[in-house]
Order: sequence, then C-alpha cells, then structure tokens
Amino acid sequence: MKIAVFPGDGIGPEVTREAVRVLQALDLPGLVLLDGVVGGAAWRRHGHPLPPQTLETARAADAILFGAVGDFECDRLERHLRPEQAILGLRKELGLFANLRPAKLFAGLEDASALRPEVASQIDLLIVRELNGDVYFGEKGIRTLDDGRRQGWDLMSYAEDEVRRIAHLAFRAAQGRRGKLCSVDKANVLETSQLWREVVIEVGCAYPEVELSHMYVDNAAMQLVRNPGQFDVVVTGNLFGDILSDQASMCVGSIGLLASASLGSDQTAGGTKGLYEPIHGSAPDIAGQDKANPMATILSAAMLLRHSFGREAEAARIESAVARTLADGIRGGDLGGSNGTRAIGDAVVERL
Ligand code: IPM
Ligand code: MG
Repeated sequence: MKIAVFPGDGIGPEVTREAVRVLQALDLPGLVLLDGVVGGAAWRRHGHPLPPQTLETARAADAILFGAVGDFECDRLERHLRPEQAILGLRKELGLFANLRPAKLFAGLEDASALRPEVASQIDLLIVRELNGDVYFGEKGIRTLDDGRRQGWDLMSYAEDEVRRIAHLAFRAAQGRRGKLCSVDKANVLETSQLWREVVIEVGCAYPEVELSHMYVDNAAMQLVRNPGQFDVVVTGNLFGDILSDQASMCVGSIGLLASASLGSDQTAGGTKGLYEPIHGSAPDIAGQDKANPMATILSAAMLLRHSFGREAEAARIESAVARTLADGIRGGDLGGSNGTRAIGDAVVERL
C-alpha cells in the first residue's frame, strides 16, 4: 500500500499529519508512506509548485493523500508557477477526471449548519465533479485589444467523450445510492452545457433504473439551500462543481468536514488510483496555530482506503470514529468549539 503524502501549504501539513496518524493507527499491512513537496512550499524549495520528483512519487504511488495548496506570497507569480498548479497538474497528469465530494450531515451538527436544522438534517448527497476539462484547462490569457483595452479570457469547452466518462461514473454512483442523478449545467446560455446535457441523456439510456433530472446551475445553488434533501447524486462540470461543493459544505456545518476523492478510472470502489484531499484550502490566516479542523483530511483518508484499496471496513471505522468524536462534542473553532487540530486527531485515534 504505497501512499504518497503531499501536505502542501498553510494548514495542509497540520491536517495531513493527523490523517496520517489515523492511517498508522489502523496497522495496515504493507503500508508505505512516500513524501512529496507541493505548492508554495515546493516553489520555494525547487522553483516549481509541482516539481518532477513529486510527480514521479505520485506516479509510483497507489494513492495520494493531499493537504492543501495556496500561499498569498505566490499570488503575483506567473500562473504556471502558482501553488494551485500543483493540484491542477496532478489531476491532469494522472488523468484524475472524477471528483467525488460527498456531503452528509453528521448527527449532532444540525445546529452547526447555516440552514435550519430540519432542512440540514435531510442532506445526504454526492457531488460528482468533472475535473480535467472546462474553463479550468481551456486556453486562457489576458490580451490587449486593438483599442488598447485589456481583456481577460478563458475558453470553456467539453468534448463528448469527457462528458460521457464522467456521466457513466455518476450513473453508477447513483445506482449504488438512492438511484437519483441530477445533472447541473447552464444549457439555457452555454453551448458547452447544451452538449453536456445531450450526452448525459444519451448515456442515461444505459441506466433506465436511475432517475435522471437536469437543473440549471443557478437554480441548483438555490435548491441546495432551499431543499438539499432532494439531491442524491449531482453530476456537473469543473467550475460549477467547485462552487456548489463549497456551498454544500456550509450546509453540513463546516468546510472542515468535507472530504474528496479524485479518481481516474470508471469505477468508484476498490483498486483504482486516486488522489484524496479535503475540499478546503490552505487557510494561511490560521496556519501553524493548531486551529484547523483535520476531519476533512481524516475523512479523505477513509475515502482513500475505500476507493484505492477496497478496504471498506477500515474506511467505515474511520468515518464512525469521526462521527463519534463529533457526537461527543469534540469540535474545532470552525464548528464553534475550542478543540485544536492535535486534540481532534487524538480523539479520532482513541475512538478507532
Ligand atoms: C478545490 C479548490 C481548487 C479548485 C483550487 C485550489 C485550484 O478550490 O479543489 O475545490 O478550484 O479545484
Ligand atoms: Mg474549491
């Protein structure tokens, strides 16, 4: 079990440390941890956010546990040298096209949600976000027009095969859940979305038992806070998925709780290479202060065991330990509590 551990910037190292302790506490046979430096930390040391040796380590590993990248000292660097390129580069280089972002309310956190408790308690959804295309990877630039005005531009596009593979994965995920799939797009305005919708409908013919619906992204944002319980699996493009998953995190109480898996093959359980990371950023304002909630990273480690190693039992043990930690009232500042990063990690390890 070769796991590459890339802590990154800001709170990344602190939260990753706790997730690694949780993995180690499970006494997994053949667990090997490989180190790698990414993000601003890598730029400082090697002049690049994703140095070749880190990419090599990622290729050699069965799975990658990733902390966070982002560092405001790097905001003025040329785009290809910015910390974010580490995560974007890994997703692209490793062909990790499917990002699973589950959001479910933990018992006892009804009051932590930004939504009314009776609304929040209904949340149990999975966002399947496409990760290798869209405006994220289209041509882009800032140019000067003939009349001297500067213009920023980013090309949004999806090829049908890119839509097809993420749609298949999402339909299969829905089969394994409550059998409902909502495809989110902006087909009333964007041609990219028009094709997206057509391809999702075509793919849907192979999954007659899954109930397929379509929603414009603005409506989806509204429905997510109005009645999140209506969603089972949501499939959407890279940009919309980025935005909706941050929104979903506040519906379950804190972005410090949302884990993610980025997968490169058309299967969602067992034996597939993947990258696992909390959906939150590097939070430089609280870095190094023992204030960050490590639960999103710990839950990402659970997803790692499930999706890359087929270790459902151990994954469930971690999730249950996190749930019991929360139920016992052990919470970080993000949830109005006063427990630090280390203490939360300790509490989860004890409950394992
Ligand atoms: C995420 C993050 C990244 C993204 C950033 C850090 C590039 O916001 O994983 O959601 O936009 O995908
Ligand atoms: Mg994001």
